Amino acid sequence: MRPLLFAANWKMNIGPAEARTYLAAFTKAYGRHPDREVWFFPPAVSIEAAAQTIAQRRDLRVGAQDIHWEPKGAFTGAISGSLANQAGAHLTLIGHSERRHVFGETDAETGKKVTAALAAELQPVLCVGETLAQREAGETVPVVTRQLEAALGGRDGKARVTIAYEPVWAIGTGRNATPKDAAEVHRAIRAWLKARAVTAPPFVILYGGSVNLKNAAELLAEHELDGVLVGGASLDPRGWAQLVRTAAG
Ligand code: 13P
Repeated sequence: MRPLLFAANWKMNIGPAEARTYLAAFTKAYGRHPDREVWFFPPAVSIEAAAQTIAQRRDLRVGAQDIHWEPKGAFTGAISGSLANQAGAHLTLIGHSERRHVFGETDAETGKKVTAALAAELQPVLCVGETLAQREAGETVPVVTRQLEAALGGRDGKARVTIAYEPVWAIGTGRNATPKDAAEVHRAIRAWLKARAVTAPPFVILYGGSVNLKNAAELLAEHELDGVLVGGASLDPRGWAQLVRTAAG
């Protein structure tokens, strides 16, 4: 069975004390499975509490939701890769749809953030995905390819970068891509990664967008999907534990 990855993006939810309570409940409800890993992306203020609470579990890892591309300096409100690392993060999301569409992050900035993440010894999880208008115009693969090229083009192929395909129209809408639609885009991403050789294999590609307890198993039955990146359905520790336990793959 291929290893599966379950990533929880808490977005702007769950403070430090809540993170400890959440993870105590989660670890009680979810014992280690050798064929799956669980990643948590708390808000920056909760990274340290989360990392400390699960320090004994090697199958669970913590990451930042975003970092700045500079290592330090006068950037009020931002955190650097190094600061996230010091707080206990091993990973970071980059270019999440909400960073791109709510905060106006550009393709060029995602590239700088990938470089900054690797410099800070954080594994990047690069998020890509098209809007509804782009999908309806048949531009899904060109858009995703442009995002990959901007963030990864010109790299030497030594670093491991996880990709999360999250169609913008599926995030928080209750409308998810069908397993077949998701698999089609994953195939195009994998083909691009193989052909361009700008990141190191294995090429791990997650799907995100309204994944929940009801649809996760069906999505993961598609072999193109190496895991899921989940927002809303990851906020309840017992529900999330159940999803991770039961989504067969
Ligand atoms: P939802 O699962 O709430 O749709 O969010 C998906 C997402 O953005 C994960 O990064």
